[in-house]
Amino acid sequence: MKGIILAAGKGTRLYPASQHVSKVLLPVYDKPMIYYPLSALMSAGITEIMVITSKDDRMYFKRLLGDGSQFGIKLKYAVQKVQRGIADAFLIAERFIDGGSVALALGDNIFCGDDMDELLAEAMAESDGATVFCKKVADPHAFGVAELDKDGKVVSLEEKPEEPKSDMAVTGLYFYDKDVVRFAKKLKPSARGELEITDINRMYMEEGRLHAIPLPESVAWADTGTFETLLKASNYIHDVEKNGRAMVGCPEQVALSRGYITKRQLLEWVSKFKETAYYSFVKDLANAE
Ligand code: G1P
Repeated sequence: MKGIILAAGKGTRLYPASQHVSKVLLPVYDKPMIYYPLSALMSAGITEIMVITSKDDRMYFKRLLGDGSQFGIKLKYAVQKVQRGIADAFLIAERFIDGGSVALALGDNIFCGDDMDELLAEAMAESDGATVFCKKVADPHAFGVAELDKDGKVVSLEEKPEEPKSDMAVTGLYFYDKDVVRFAKKLKPSARGELEITDINRMYMEEGRLHAIPLPESVAWADTGTFETLLKASNYIHDVEKNGRAMVGCPEQVALSRGYITKRQLLEWVSKFKETAYYSFVKDLANAE
């Protein structure tokens, strides 16, 4: 399975902080936002990833992440010239996807919790249809909303409804089988002029091939689109890391634990940097017995 990180949004709700550069490069506590979705895809076992950015931001993402070899993965870059919506990612990445299955991570979505790896494995194991993660939220009207029946089957899906039928938000990490590009080609722009990811998910739902995994309380989720949610996410990650529970969103750690790189390679990489708290942590990983 291949992966896509969509980081082409203008992030206007974070202006002036994201006026000059993609919000996905802004820090969430101690690392750039993109480290979190990148780590999530890598944790799922995905090592070929396309990062879709705006034309202006492409060079900054490349400068930060390069070709991915430091993490033992392959990174490619593509540009979304016109903001045509999330589902446009599949049209942009058609050749990269090459008729296979693909996971899409929104650049501003952060997942945090020990149980996440198991849930990612569950999504990866589903070879037919699409899999989404849902989370109970207080403000469902701000998201795609899924209504589930008592067996956990999705019975309705709406994008940012004024009157949500449930409090289950569809989060920004999606897994699709080979049909996703074909479905994307059928899409018509929505009232707000976008190719909606919710419309793709609905096509799978209508064929009875949409799987929804509700995230348990142990897994926190944030969409860091506003100053409030960005600060909340930073504080949350800070708390988790300071309590010594874990480092969250560390691609080097995932790369090592998944066997994408060796300790020697990691040591070589980390020796280039000053010992910030982040890189001290990475160095300790590389030096551990
Ligand atoms: C997008 C999707 C929405 C989803 C959300 C998750 O909304 O359109 O369905 O619930 O991401 O973060 P956006 O945040 O781009 O407005």
